[in-house]
Amino acid sequence: MVAPRNIAIDNTSEALRSGGTFFLETFGCQMNDHDSEKVAGVLLSRGYRQVETPDAASLVLYNTCSIREKAAQKVFSRLGEYRTKQAAGQIIGVLGCVAQQEGENIFQRAPWVSLVCGSASYSKLPELLSQLEAGNQRVTGLDTDTDETFETPVTRRDNPWRAYLTIIEGCDKACAYCVVPFTRGPERSRASDSVLREVRELVDLGYSEVQLLGQTVNSYADPSARRIRFSDLLLAVADVPGIRRVRFTTSHPRDFGADIVAALEAQPKLCNHVHLPVQSGSPRILRAMTRTYTREEYLEKIAMLRGAKCEIAITTDVIVGFPGETEDDFAETLSLLEGVRYDSLFSFKYSPRPNTPSLSMPDAISEEEKSRRLTILQEVQREIQSRRNATLVGNTFELLVGNKSRRENQWSGHTACNRVVNFASQERALLGTYVQVRATGAGPNSLVGEHVP
Ligand code: 5AD
Ligand code: SF4
Repeated sequence: MVAPRNIAIDNTSEALRSGGTFFLETFGCQMNDHDSEKVAGVLLSRGYRQVETPDAASLVLYNTCSIREKAAQKVFSRLGEYRTKQAAGQIIGVLGCVAQQEGENIFQRAPWVSLVCGSASYSKLPELLSQLEAGNQRVTGLDTDTDETFETPVTRRDNPWRAYLTIIEGCDKACAYCVVPFTRGPERSRASDSVLREVRELVDLGYSEVQLLGQTVNSYADPSARRIRFSDLLLAVADVPGIRRVRFTTSHPRDFGADIVAALEAQPKLCNHVHLPVQSGSPRILRAMTRTYTREEYLEKIAMLRGAKCEIAITTDVIVGFPGETEDDFAETLSLLEGVRYDSLFSFKYSPRPNTPSLSMPDAISEEEKSRRLTILQEVQREIQSRRNATLVGNTFELLVGNKSRRENQWSGHTACNRVVNFASQERALLGTYVQVRATGAGPNSLVGEHVP
């Protein structure tokens, strides 16, 4: 545990004390995006103003990602670009997973940084900001042994149509390759009443679609006396008047039960899409990854989803080139993709990360071989998606329109199953509305359609 500390007092805090401005750049996952929305809320409620460029800001913040090495490197190269800024009176802060992982080392590597705060310590941000405003040059929040979640009275949301809402922070699963349990700390769930209160506030703000977030969202364990299950929380969120769509991500296969499928079947407002990372199709590699399920058990969950009364889109994450992954192991991943026929997937080359058990595992796969496997996997999946999407031509979908293209009369939106559909319409004000669109064409990554007025 590292307590915030003072090293020196200087005059750079002047800019913060007198109506500071902030620039906040976010790397990484949706959890990070949403953390940044909450960080922005904290700053705005302290009287800071958000600006569009780092040059215009008195406080420059980077919310960082360390899930793969490349993402972490990007943060240091970005910090390098700002080495001269401190001298010009700007305060630089590093938030998120790299902050947690590197801790005070960041001050050694980039001495122009004044604030280092990991996501498990965001509840302390107001206190840390007070220290910066008081002139402290080096301020840290690096505890991970907290049982607190990051709740703030003000969240400045970026997406006007889909509101993110974290219901569980951290992760207890300890997959052999993953830094998240170290950077985000243990699992902490938010009380169900607090979640439902925020959903009602979101409706008042005009949102009709919410996405419940967690690294393992379905491991949710209500800490309040109500002790409602995740599936019942989904139903309760959908019952909030004004809510039309409820999404949730990411689900962990181990905690994915029939009650969640039953909830999706019973309540059409629960979007028919489940993101269920498999990581590998090889039983041996799944064991080495300590994913806590076998290939068979995973496929039983898939069978449960495919057997549902409504059609449910399934997406996944896959890692290629985990230490010791043979050609046969990789072939088992490809056969799993052919068997499941995912609607879409995210695929990654294994990246060795600090502190993780797999760092010291033998039989590393070369970068070249990882790239080769990634390309093959992506080609196989592209083919599956092209075939799958072609079967959807002729179907009509409800879209929440989220984008207007620069091209005249062109729009796009997401279906409940999270597919992107591009469509033409002569109407003027479709953004943020729900429309019916008939699919007239399909590519591997999206559909094309026409507005059915
Ligand atoms: N290397 C490559 N991919 C990783 N992921 C997590 N850790 C690593 C790593 N060390 C991937 C997993 C996870 C997704 C968010 O990132 O597939 O589901
Ligand atoms: Fe990482 Fe595994 Fe937790 Fe996902 S479930 S965040 S991959 S440790």
